[in-house]
Amino acid sequence: MSLTERQKREQSYYNQFAEMFTLNENIDFSPILGKERRPWNSYWYIYQLAEEAAAGKVSPKLLDFGSGPGENALRFAKLGYEVEGFDISEKNIEAASGLFEKYEISGNFKVSVAEKLDYADETFDTIAGIDILHHVDIPLSIKECRRVLKPGGVAIFREPLDVPLWDKIRGLKLVTIFFSKSVSFEKHITEDERKLNQEDIRVLTEEFPDIKIDKFLIFSRFDPYLRKNHDSTPSLLEKFDAFLMRLIPGIANLGGAMVITLKKEK
Ligand SMILES: C[S@@+](CC[C@H](N)C(=O)[O-])C[C@H]1O[C@@H](n2cnc3c(N)ncnc32)[C@H](O)[C@@H]1O
Repeated sequence: MSLTERQKREQSYYNQFAEMFTLNENIDFSPILGKERRPWNSYWYIYQLAEEAAAGKVSPKLLDFGSGPGENALRFAKLGYEVEGFDISEKNIEAASGLFEKYEISGNFKVSVAEKLDYADETFDTIAGIDILHHVDIPLSIKECRRVLKPGGVAIFREPLDVPLWDKIRGLKLVTIFFSKSVSFEKHITEDERKLNQEDIRVLTEEFPDIKIDKFLIFSRFDPYLRKNHDSTPSLLEKFDAFLMRLIPGIANLGGAMVITLKKEK
């Protein structure tokens, strides 16, 4: 597999990052097994959509698009999916395979790039990708996504979204006095990743005209300053954001994260 310079940088970064993953930690299944649902949280909402997409299907197949160390894939498997996953990082693929072994669930993981997949056409009922499109070449990857999806299948992605107004506010002197630069409003890690913008949405829409976008993260972008790390209780600001977006439609334009649902026609 020959890699572009960007892909090499991502692979090397995530191979190092994967070292932090340990099989001793227990996976939190509350987004899928608990009685509580949190449709106002973009990460939890993905599972709700995946569960809906599986309803009524016998042995539905899901591709975890850029699976990382496999925690999300494991939750998708618990929802009743036969799961396959790929990632550019060999270390992540080792971690994901180890995780499925530990939980005695069958799953297939391979090292691959999003831009060129080696799955047959029309293999998957559902594709799910969490924080992945903003790391890859979107036009190439989304074509692959469409190719491997069955007719009537659905692809669901959770991604950060660029909101130029927030960047302007963040740059104001007064704001930099109160908010330390060391804490990011959102996770933003490798040098190549960038939040999605309107042009990316146009590219997605060209490939999948049936597109739905749910927005998140208006005031809850301040949660990292207000809540303790790993606080698993529901965020009041996330709920407030959802409430505001129902009340004032235009305010969704300030949302810094989105869940994109792409449907392939039957
Ligand atoms: C932010 S992580 C998200 C991983 C996983 N979806 C999760 O939520 O834990 C981004 C992932 O994209 C992978 N990646 C980056 N560029 C890629 C590419 N071109 N093809 C496949 N995977 C890639 C990285 O190795 C990393 O695992």
